Amino acid sequence: MDTSQFIPSYSQLSPKGGSVRWQAPSNIALVKYWGKTDVQIPMNPSISFTLSTCRTETQLDFAPKSGASAWIKVLLDGEEQEAFIPKIETFFQRIKEYLPFLEAYQFVVKTHNSFPHSSGIASSASGMGALAACLVAMEEQLSGQTMEASARSQKISFLARLGSGSACRSMEGPLVVWGRHPAIAGSSDLYGVPYGHSIAPVFENYRDSILLVDVGEKQVSSTAGHALMHGHPFSEARFAEANKHLTQLSEVLQVGDLDGFIELVELEALQLHAMMLTSSPYFILMKPNTLAIINAVWDYRKQTGSKLCFTLDAGANVHLLYPDTEADEVRRFIQQELAQYCKDGAFIHDRCGIGISTF
Ligand code: PMV
Repeated sequence: MDTSQFIPSYSQLSPKGGSVRWQAPSNIALVKYWGKTDVQIPMNPSISFTLSTCRTETQLDFAPKSGASAWIKVLLDGEEQEAFIPKIETFFQRIKEYLPFLEAYQFVVKTHNSFPHSSGIASSASGMGALAACLVAMEEQLSGQTMEASARSQKISFLARLGSGSACRSMEGPLVVWGRHPAIAGSSDLYGVPYGHSIAPVFENYRDSILLVDVGEKQVSSTAGHALMHGHPFSEARFAEANKHLTQLSEVLQVGDLDGFIELVELEALQLHAMMLTSSPYFILMKPNTLAIINAVWDYRKQTGSKLCFTLDAGANVHLLYPDTEADEVRRFIQQELAQYCKDGAFIHDRCGIGISTF
C-alpha cells in the first residue's frame, strides 16, 4: 500500500514552540469494522455516522526538546494521567515517519471529554482524532504551509487510524466510509472518506441516543476481539456480509428507505456480537439489560410504527438511532421505559455531526 503521499517533502523545520487546539467527535458504525491486519488495516469496509455531542477537546502544547523534561505529559481535565502515556508513545512511534519533527519536540497534551470518563463510551476514537488533528495543525505551524482542506482531513484520518482504527472515521460527517469498497469512490484502507453520494434528507440529521448499560472496564478489549477474527470459523462469511451490507446500505441511504435501514443496521450489530459469541475463546459483551432494551425497542416499533432502531459497539451500551422528526416521542420513551435498564439511569442524546474543528 502506498503511503508516500503522507511523508512530507520539507527537510528541516525551524524549531519553535507553540500551542494548537482541536476537537474531534466520536462516531457510531452502521456497518461494523471487526478484524484487522497490521497496522490497523481493516479486513472489511465500514461506514459510520459522525457524532456531535460526544467529543474530545485537546490542546497540544509543544516546545523543542530540552534535556530534563518528559517527552510527553498528559493532563485529563487538569489531572496528570501517566496511564495514557504508553498508548500515545506507541502512536507517536508509528507516525514519526509521517511527522519527522516529532522526536525533536516535547509535548503537553491537555484533554477533556464531553462525556464522563466512567461512562463506558470509548474515548479512543475522539481522543486519537483530536490528537491527530492537533499534530497536523502543529506541522502546518512549523512548516508555514497550510494544507488544502480535503488533503488535511485525509492526513489527519490516516494518522488517527494508526492510533485507533475507527478514529479515522471522525474527521468529517455525517457519513464516513473506511476500507476499500467498489460503491464508494476514493475509498481506502488507509483513511476514512466522506460517503460521497447524495443522501435522503432524513439521514442528514439523524439522532443517536446512547443508553449507558455498563460503565466498567470491558472484559475483552477491542484489540483482543479484532485479533480473534484471525482463524475464526465464520470470518470469511462475515467479511463478505459486511461488503454486501455496505452495498445495500448505500442504496438505502440514497433513497431514504427507513425500513431497509433498520434491517441492515440491527443485523450488523447482532452479527458483530455473533462473532464475539463464536470466537475461540468466546466472550459476551452484552448484558441482560442490553437484551431488555433490544426487546423493548422491537415492542415499541410494533406498537407505534416508529422507525427507531438499535446498534451496538464493542460493549454493552445501546445506541438508539432515529429520525429527527421522532425526537420528542423517542426521548419520552427512553425516559419512561428504557432509563430503568441504564446504569444510574444514564443516557446521552447525540446526533449526526460534521467532524473535527478548532475550538
Ligand atoms: O477502533 P477499534 O479498534 O476500537 O474498533 C472498533 C470496533 C467497533 O466499534 C466494534 C466497530 C466499528 O466499526 O467502530
